[in-house]
Amino acid sequence: MSITDDTVSLSSSQTDTQSAPIAASFPPDFLWGAATSAYQVEGAVHEDGRGPSTWDRFAATPGATYEGQTGEIAADHYHRMEEDVALMSQLNLNAYRFSIAWPRILPQGTGTVNERGLDFYDRLVDALLAHGIRPVPTLYHWDLPLALQDRGGWVNRDTAYAFADYAEIVTKRLGDRVDWWLTHNEPWCTSYLSYALGIHAPGLRDQQLAIVVGHHVLLSHGLAVPRMRAHLSPEAQVGIAIDFYPAYAADDRPETLLAVQRADTFRNRWFMDPVFRGKYPETLFNDLGVNPPPIHDGDLAIISTPIDFLGVNYYSRMVVQNRTNGASQAEQPVHADTEIYEALAHIPGSSYTEMGWEIFPDGLANILMRIHRDYAPKAIAITESGAAFNDHLDGNDSVHDPQRVDYLKAHIQAISEVIRQGAPVKGYFVWSLMDNFEWAEGYRKRFGLVYIDYPTQRRIIKDSGHWYAKFIRQQRES
Ligand code: FCB
Repeated sequence: MSITDDTVSLSSSQTDTQSAPIAASFPPDFLWGAATSAYQVEGAVHEDGRGPSTWDRFAATPGATYEGQTGEIAADHYHRMEEDVALMSQLNLNAYRFSIAWPRILPQGTGTVNERGLDFYDRLVDALLAHGIRPVPTLYHWDLPLALQDRGGWVNRDTAYAFADYAEIVTKRLGDRVDWWLTHNEPWCTSYLSYALGIHAPGLRDQQLAIVVGHHVLLSHGLAVPRMRAHLSPEAQVGIAIDFYPAYAADDRPETLLAVQRADTFRNRWFMDPVFRGKYPETLFNDLGVNPPPIHDGDLAIISTPIDFLGVNYYSRMVVQNRTNGASQAEQPVHADTEIYEALAHIPGSSYTEMGWEIFPDGLANILMRIHRDYAPKAIAITESGAAFNDHLDGNDSVHDPQRVDYLKAHIQAISEVIRQGAPVKGYFVWSLMDNFEWAEGYRKRFGLVYIDYPTQRRIIKDSGHWYAKFIRQQRES
C-alpha cells in the first residue's frame, strides 16, 4: 500500500456484505478463536493473593470510567472458568486468546511469586486442552501491578526488566503445554492512550512520557522473547499483538497526503519498524514534536529479536486530512489523536458500531497485504476483530445481532482473500468471547459472541455465536 494508493473517493461503494455467503475455505489447522483479557473478564480482584493493578486504581478515580464502573466483578470468569471453557467448546473454538494478570503472579510486580495465581492459569490451560482448544496467552494486557506504577510504571526502564522476569516465570510454568504466546497487547494503547491521551490507566497526558513508555514496552518485549524461548519447544510461536488503523486520504491535496503519511507513521509504523527493522520511523518524533526516547546501545537489536508471528488487532480505518483551524476542508466533523492530522468522524454511506468505529472490512485486507509486503512476518494471526452493538436479551432467551454476523462474515471473507494472495494468516480471534468491561466505556459496550446478563452473570450465546460455531463446524467438515 503506497500512500497514494490510499486515496479513496468518499462516495465509493464499499464491500456489500449483507448476507453474502462466505466462499472461503481455510487450512484445516487454521485457528478459529475468540479473545478476552484478564481485567475485562476475571473479576475476583482481591482473591487468592492478587495484588492491585493500575486499572483498579484508575477505575476507582472519579470520572475515569462510564458511571464509575470497574472490573471488580466483571464477567466473574475467575469463578466460572470451567463453564466458560465449556461454552468455548460449544462454539467449536479450537483456540482461545486470554491474558495473564501480572498482579496475580507477582503481587508486587517483582519478587515473591504467588503460586495461587499461577494455579489459576494452570487450571485454565488444562481445561482448554481437555476440550481440544489451543491456549494463546498474552502476558500483558494493561493491568500493571500498582507497585510498579508507583515506581514510574513504564516510564521507568526497570519495568522492562521486571516484565522479562515475569514472562520467564509464566512460561516456565505453562510452557510445557502452551505453544502460542504473545508478549504485549497493543503497545500504542499502553503508551499513547494511557500516557498521552489519559483515557486509560494511569491516565497521564504527556506525549513525551508516551514515547518513553513505548520504548520501554518494546524493550521489555525484546528482553522477554529469549527468556520465554528457554522454556518452550522449538516449534513454539512467540509474537506480539499490535493494533492497526490503516490511513486513507480524505482528498488528493498534497497536504492531505502528507497528513496520511504522518497518521500512518504514528498509528501503524511506530511499533512495527523497531520490531521488524530495528529502527524507529525517521519522522515519528519530529512529527509529534517530541524528543526521541532514551535509547541505550543495543536496545534496538534486542527489540528486533526475530519473532515467530505477528498478532494483528484490527477494528477500523481512519480517513485523514491535514489539520485545519476552524472549519474542516471536507465539511465533516473531525476528531484527532494528536495535532498531526484530523480524521473524519463520519464517512457518508458508511455504517458504524456502537463504539463509533466505521465498519470497513477492506481495511483489514489492505493492512494485512501491506504488512505481508513491507514487513514479511513469518506468520500472522488476527488477534482481535469484532464490534460492539446494542444487544438485547429478548423474552425467548435469545440475542439477535445480525449486524455482528455480517461483520464477522465480511472480515472473514477479507482474510480468505489475502490468504489467496499469499499472506501467511494462521488464525482469527473474535473480540470478544463474551461481553465484558470495556475499559473507560464500562459495561455499556457489548462485544461478545456470548451475552452476559450482569445481574445474574448468566451466559447466553448470541446469534453471532451460533453462526460462528456453525461456520467453524462447516470449515472442519469441508
Ligand atoms: C482493543 C483492546 C481490547 C478491547 C477492544 C475493543 O483495543 O485490546 O481489550 O478493549 O479494543
